Amino acid sequence: MSESNNQVFVRAKKKINDIYGEIEEYVHETTQFINALHSDAEIVDKAERELFESYVYKVAAIREVLQRDHMKVAFFGRTSNGKSSVINAMLREKILPSGIGHTTNCFCQVEGNDGGEAYLMKEGSDEKLNVVNIKQLANALCQEKLSESSLVRIFWPRERCSLLRDDVVFVDSPGVDVSANLDDWIDNHCLNADVFVLVLNAESTMTRAEKQFFHTVSQKLSKPNIFILNNRWDASANEPEFQESELLAKVKSQHTERCIDFLTKELKVSNEKEAAERVFFVSARETLQARLEEAKGNPPHLGAIADGFQIRYFEFQDFERKFEECISQSAVKTKFQQHSSRGKSVSGDMRSMLDNIYERITIFRNLKQDQKNLLTERIQGTETQMMQVTREMKMKIHNMVEEVEEKVSKALNE
Ligand code: GTP
Ligand code: MG
Repeated sequence: MSESNNQVFVRAKKKINDIYGEIEEYVHETTQFINALHSDAEIVDKAERELFESYVYKVAAIREVLQRDHMKVAFFGRTSNGKSSVINAMLREKILPSGIGHTTNCFCQVEGNDGGEAYLMKEGSDEKLNVVNIKQLANALCQEKLSESSLVRIFWPRERCSLLRDDVVFVDSPGVDVSANLDDWIDNHCLNADVFVLVLNAESTMTRAEKQFFHTVSQKLSKPNIFILNNRWDASANEPEFQESELLAKVKSQHTERCIDFLTKELKVSNEKEAAERVFFVSARETLQARLEEAKGNPPHLGAIADGFQIRYFEFQDFERKFEECISQSAVKTKFQQHSSRGKSVSGDMRSMLDNIYERITIFRNLKQDQKNLLTERIQGTETQMMQVTREMKMKIHNMVEEVEEKVSKALNE
């Protein structure tokens, strides 16, 4: 199921790329034809020719954007809530450094790389810094004197994770509580995000900084897609007074209600029903551990941290399924819809210009034909005249010759 959701995006991306490939060919051919018309017959003027050339650039630019298109998901929340851990759990590998205290100190974007090697690139540099393991990556990130709103891109082999294979790009951020530049963050890293994940600490409640951040996001973006993860839910199993499941359910429903209210009444980004599908209670650390066990061929529950592992593990998978559904729908709807309507308008414009030119050519041809007909008529008239003249001349000469012959034979006889 989760595969097929992402496949929708991948298939749609391939299809639209193919269509644009055809449009590009068509635009090229037409432009060559138009250029020839311009130099040969002067049917097409300079402005028209230039307009056609601008379509070539337009289509090439759209194709480039399309080829780079990916689905971007950005993670936010307070320090230590487990943002990096959630990403690692989704990637099924410990890629991003996580730990106690303030760990992530700048924006880290994890994206797929076809070459099979792992490396990172700092903002504003083309230098590829090779990454062999997580320790080295953590060290490289620590050593870099980077500002908190700068971006480090981590290229990770696509074949190591299905989400990267399907063009999902993950953006990890420093805690929203440690920055004074939240507006810069939003402008630099959030405006093109398809999905936001707010990672909360289920042991406490949502903070003002977390709320404020998403208020600003939803002012700048119309109806952002937001998921809320109440992370560290494993901790609830260890609370002695929570042993009674009634109490646990009460805490869970309180958290759920607050999260739903936040999405519906405060941010107004979704209705009750949609919001209920966006709130989850998970344990990122446990999920990652379970997946690492699975990768070794062991049963996932070996990664369990506390009682109730199975429910939390299912809930994490449920989150991933809804997330993939949402991300592929959003990307197909927003990005591809926009591109296909631009493609449609370019080909529509070209068509009407070509119709116009065709009409002009037809008029031009008819005009030429009329001129030709007139000329032919004239020539035909002259020809008949000439023939008449020739015939008359011939007769005259014939008569003259006969007359001369007669005169000569008469003279000879005398
Ligand atoms: P910063 O990068 O500092 O903003 O933090 P972060 O939000 O990225 O948190 P990170 O993933 O680094 O996790 C912080 C600590 O919490 C790490 O020691 C994790 O192992 C631990 N942790 C993360 N998720 C969970 C969880 O679900 N349960 C438990 N028990 N620990 C967790
Ligand atoms: Mg982090």
